[in-house]
Amino acid sequence: MDKNDLTIDVITSLLKRRGFVFPSSEIYGGLAGVYDYGPHGAELAHNIKSAWWGEMVQERADIVGLNSAIFMRPEVWQASGHTGGFSDPLVECKKCNTRHRADHLLESIDIVADEKMTEEEINNIFDEHKKDIACPNCGEKDFTGVKLFNLLVSSNLGNFTNEKESEVYLRGETAQGIYVNFKAVQDSMHMKVPFGIAQIGKAFRNEITPRQYLIRTREFEQMEMQFFSAPETAMDEFEKLREFRFNALVSMGLKKENLRFKRHENLVFYAKDAYDIEYNYPGLGWRELEGIHARGDYDLTQHSKHSGQDLSYNDDVLDKKYIPHVLESSIGVGRLFLALISDAYQEEEVKGETRVVLKLNKHIAPVKVAILPLSKKDELQQGAQGVFDKLKGAYMCVYDDTQSIGKRYRRQDEIGTPFCVTYDFDSLEDFSVTVRDRDTMSQERIKIDELKEYLDNKFEK
Ligand code: GAP
Repeated sequence: MDKNDLTIDVITSLLKRRGFVFPSSEIYGGLAGVYDYGPHGAELAHNIKSAWWGEMVQERADIVGLNSAIFMRPEVWQASGHTGGFSDPLVECKKCNTRHRADHLLESIDIVADEKMTEEEINNIFDEHKKDIACPNCGEKDFTGVKLFNLLVSSNLGNFTNEKESEVYLRGETAQGIYVNFKAVQDSMHMKVPFGIAQIGKAFRNEITPRQYLIRTREFEQMEMQFFSAPETAMDEFEKLREFRFNALVSMGLKKENLRFKRHENLVFYAKDAYDIEYNYPGLGWRELEGIHARGDYDLTQHSKHSGQDLSYNDDVLDKKYIPHVLESSIGVGRLFLALISDAYQEEEVKGETRVVLKLNKHIAPVKVAILPLSKKDELQQGAQGVFDKLKGAYMCVYDDTQSIGKRYRRQDEIGTPFCVTYDFDSLEDFSVTVRDRDTMSQERIKIDELKEYLDNKFEK
């Protein structure tokens, strides 16, 4: 299959069929913009997060990890500007009552609506062009006025007698948890600027149009790192971070030709520079995968002002006190998950049949080794179980004895399992198994006693 013919529907169907991603609460009809990760999806997401954590925290002496709570004091979101400015422009089709993002409708006729525009500004632009815009649902060209719709999801906590007082937000991004812990982390860990704080966690947004599968969901995980720098060196650190992150995505398995930087044209007033790393999603085109932003001293200044705590840093090398500048890298697990699957997806003609295979980076693949007894005969099951027991602590293995061996190979190809190990009747005599390579489909006979070492060598490369 030509890569250009690949669609999100093909991927969505594979991910459901093979236990990666299911619509949330599907037995009740599903919940728009919310997805559950099935057994293989949970493994893949876990491997993506581990790889990110390894590169961003464990292999960097200048970055430390954090796991801050989802609930925070409401003042945090006032200081950050989320209660006032974290909104999308909403319009409703007067005929079919579907809601749309006005900026997306304008984009469809090549009009760029800036996310920093006021309600009045975007209303004026929408008014001017709405005669050219058809409702994507029913085709009618009749819309309500634009309203800014805040994306924070609210909840309640503690004082249940007074709704307003007990209102808290589910965090809209993980970054604020990092800013409010800047001082605690810096003091307790004796960190010297420049240094970074990284965290992985859930974020929640009341997206108006949660479409495009995992790209725009209402509940998602972010992997964010905020790097704190002296003002003088911030832009050098920014360039280093851009390069570091691009290379990290390539080393996780994304093809360079499907990635590009897009520089923001209109910066928010405090930003010094901002780029998106975009990925060319099948059937959807270039979409933001990761944001890399030079945020100046805005975040710590805002939290200093609103909390009344001094968040400046006493730099004994530069011999001065300042509010550190923030360089941010932020990526959604779901968007990266979908990009990795899209890049790995291949269809090949094998002996007149189509083989679907996910050629995922073997370190990221959800299952590393599938152990397959050739048949359900007791002696083969026992032997294969012994192989499973030998490998299970070292590699994520599955044991699969349903259907023919050919069907099991195809199933593991679709899951992206790098190696299948078959235990057959000869194994009872020669204490060896057949190891099949996912990518080349070549098979090798390996002694069971040497199997672990054989795989260790394969995974080292
Ligand atoms: N702290 C910065 C921040 O949150 P953002 O551009 O709103 O910036 C960062 O989000 C990243 O989070 C995006 O590049 C994307 O990968 C992911 N993301 C944002 N909104 C999302 C959504 N509704 N669904 C899935 N992923 C999302």
